[in-house]
Amino acid sequence: MVSTFPTPNSVNLSQIRLDIRSMQPQLVNWRRQLHQRPELGFQEQITSEFIAQKLQEWGIEHQTGIAKTGIVATISGNRPGPVLAIRADMDALPIQEENDVPYRSLHEGKMHACGHDGHTAIALGTAYYLSQHPEDFSGTVKIIFQPAEEGPGGAKPMIEEGVLSNPEVEAIIGLHLWNNLPVGTVGVRSGSLMAAVELFRCTILGKGGHGAMPHQTVDSVVVSAQIINALQTIIARNVNPLESAVVTVGELHAGKVYNVIADTARMSGTVRYFNPELEGYFGKRIEQLIAGICQSYGASYDLNYWRLYPPVINDAKIAELVRSVATDVVETPVGIVPECQTMASEDMSFFLEAVPGCYFFLGSANSAAGLAYPHHHPRFNFDETALGMGVEIFVRCVEKFCS
Ligand code: NI
Repeated sequence: MVSTFPTPNSVNLSQIRLDIRSMQPQLVNWRRQLHQRPELGFQEQITSEFIAQKLQEWGIEHQTGIAKTGIVATISGNRPGPVLAIRADMDALPIQEENDVPYRSLHEGKMHACGHDGHTAIALGTAYYLSQHPEDFSGTVKIIFQPAEEGPGGAKPMIEEGVLSNPEVEAIIGLHLWNNLPVGTVGVRSGSLMAAVELFRCTILGKGGHGAMPHQTVDSVVVSAQIINALQTIIARNVNPLESAVVTVGELHAGKVYNVIADTARMSGTVRYFNPELEGYFGKRIEQLIAGICQSYGASYDLNYWRLYPPVINDAKIAELVRSVATDVVETPVGIVPECQTMASEDMSFFLEAVPGCYFFLGSANSAAGLAYPHHHPRFNFDETALGMGVEIFVRCVEKFCS
């Protein structure tokens, strides 16, 4: 079924909304075509060709092959003015889809389980609308189709290849369809929205032996247990209780047999936090604890630590722009949700480190229609009425910022 754009008050529909509403079947169609052909990070060939072909068809200037599969479209208004960027990610996940829908994934073991197919459709719709209405804005809009958000990250290489210059981008906006919020709502706030993500892998090197003769061994399992407990004290006893942070050990492997003491144990985990001042802290503290515990038990260790994405921090002015526009689009201030922070992470943060901007959540859940599974679930799907709302928010932000 093709969804229709919600029209609470059809008498007062603005022309923009009418125009975007008429695009809704097309937005759904693009999203479903993309949904059927999900591709993993830096392999988005079909997706990239799909986008380039549409831009070509509409006569929109664009550059392909940025950070392998990324694309930047440039659309100018009728008058000179500021440069605003809009960012959409386009990669899928290595998940086998379990939805029974006519547009289910045709690619075995791959699925758009995070909604990036929707982000791409919204960005395409925005590009199309703006190219048809150059009289409605001044300056330039750059639409960035980014690969590999789910990892290893396409934002940083796109910035390194110059997507924010020539012309120089002054501000950037982006959205994530969000099943943690119902369709018809928008999560927007200034300051921190999403957490930094860091990754560690550690091997504990002990000395194996007979399960009944522990005195002849250094038990890597016992050492690991001490380490895992101690790591939680970083949150409980080192980080200011008014700060939000997480340390999770998600993986632990040791031993093969019940009566043999394992000589090595391997663990990996993730760290999340909002405050950029904490950058560098967790890696050091984790190593101190591991080193101290290993030393006291006679074990050694091999630790690797990576800072993957910084926190997503929104600029107050651009967040206010999005908030004011979104209030018009959802037609009620109640639909604006500022309590929308999450410890999940996003490489939109690299763009926001480079230029002021705002990343926001576009509510997309519809429990009554069975469209409320969490992101990255094999049955994830969203309410497609959100697509038109996304286009309308982007278009109105352009018209306000580039007025
Ligand atoms: Ni995502």
